Amino acid sequence: MAAAAPAAAQSPAPTATQGENLVTVGLRVNGERTRLETDPRATLLDTLRERLRLTGTKKGCDRGQCGACTVRVDGRRVLSCLTLAASVDGAEITTIEGLADSEKLHPMQQAFIDHDGFQCGFRTSGQIMSAVALVQEGRAGSDEEIRENMSGNICRCSAYPFIVDAVKDARAVMS
Ligand code: FES
Repeated sequence: MAAAAPAAAQSPAPTATQGENLVTVGLRVNGERTRLETDPRATLLDTLRERLRLTGTKKGCDRGQCGACTVRVDGRRVLSCLTLAASVDGAEITTIEGLADSEKLHPMQQAFIDHDGFQCGFRTSGQIMSAVALVQEGRAGSDEEIRENMSGNICRCSAYPFIVDAVKDARAVMS
């Protein structure tokens, strides 16, 4: 039986668009330039989800412990719940919504489908973003290396062996 999705935000996100002390942040998200006024305390995760409506990036623990919020910033994977939007002004952001090539899924997305590597599904987008990054970083050479480098993406569900199989399949297509 699939586990229930975890509770989302523990506290209201500071993403106000009115008031004093706002900062202007320019981002390029999934190839599209955007500019917004935001609270300097707003995380990248809340900005993506609540301001830009890119809800594929999930809020799991909101404390840097589960990897559900993983996105790429200038090619590096980061935990968006621990990253202030203002600190990545000018950066190139890739979220799960930006992986597919129009209707064609990214090889990692397809491999997760083929190997049923979804777990409960809630943290799948973070798993896929990490998996893509570790292949691109050349750190998916062996099963052990894949497990080690995916160890920051945690879910209570099983399916970890399927995820390793998916990464290996996608690695062959991506390289
Ligand atoms: S929501 Fe960011 S690590 Fe869990």
